Amino acid sequence: MTQDEMKRKAAEAAAEYVVTDAIIGVGTGSTVNHFIDVLADMKGRIEGAVSSSEASTKLMEERGIKVYDLNEVNDIPVYIDGADESDHYLNLIKGGGGALTREKIIAGASDKFVCIADESKLVDVLGAFPLPVEVIPMARSYIARELVKLGGRPVWRENFITDNGNVILDVHDLQILEPVKMENEINKLAGVVTVGLFCNRPADVLILGAPEGARTVMPKTA
Ligand code: A5P
Repeated sequence: MTQDEMKRKAAEAAAEYVVTDAIIGVGTGSTVNHFIDVLADMKGRIEGAVSSSEASTKLMEERGIKVYDLNEVNDIPVYIDGADESDHYLNLIKGGGGALTREKIIAGASDKFVCIADESKLVDVLGAFPLPVEVIPMARSYIARELVKLGGRPVWRENFITDNGNVILDVHDLQILEPVKMENEINKLAGVVTVGLFCNRPADVLILGAPEGARTVMPKTA
């Protein structure tokens, strides 16, 4: 089974978390693109969606799913999104697609965060995937120097501008043993918009697509 077929399995399994008559939070990425197909097949059962990127908005509108501005919405019972890595506590690295800021906002505004991914995304320690950091353009070099002090090797994602008009630094060579601490340390640097560590607000459920089907992982307790 290909990685893409495993992503599809996870996306299909997420259908059971869709709440009838509600507005669903929708993430970004290739796994979520499969989920948008699933959601389009059940669009009569939901009121609509809030979207974490221009790309997901476009796809949902093409499929006839009504997309609401987050400011119009009071209650999001569930947010469904992919990840670049998850540890066993469901701390995540996200932002490979560059949509991390809007993703983190919607994750924070939602009651439940269901993460969907193929099984290769589950790791013991976060950091093999370069950690994305969205940065105000004028702060790029300063933040890069600060990230070096934290032990990383930041690489500017050239020719890429986020939906919010900012740039991304992808931080290589990190072994993130204290994810919440690392999230907080990077967050507090002036000029950082968002770090792609989702640990203060991790996922509540992880659905992993695998050749034998989809399996659900709950966060390990310390
Ligand atoms: C988008 O910015 C990311 O956070 C994605 O959720 C993440 O990169 C997973 O993407 P795939 O589903 O394409 O692997």
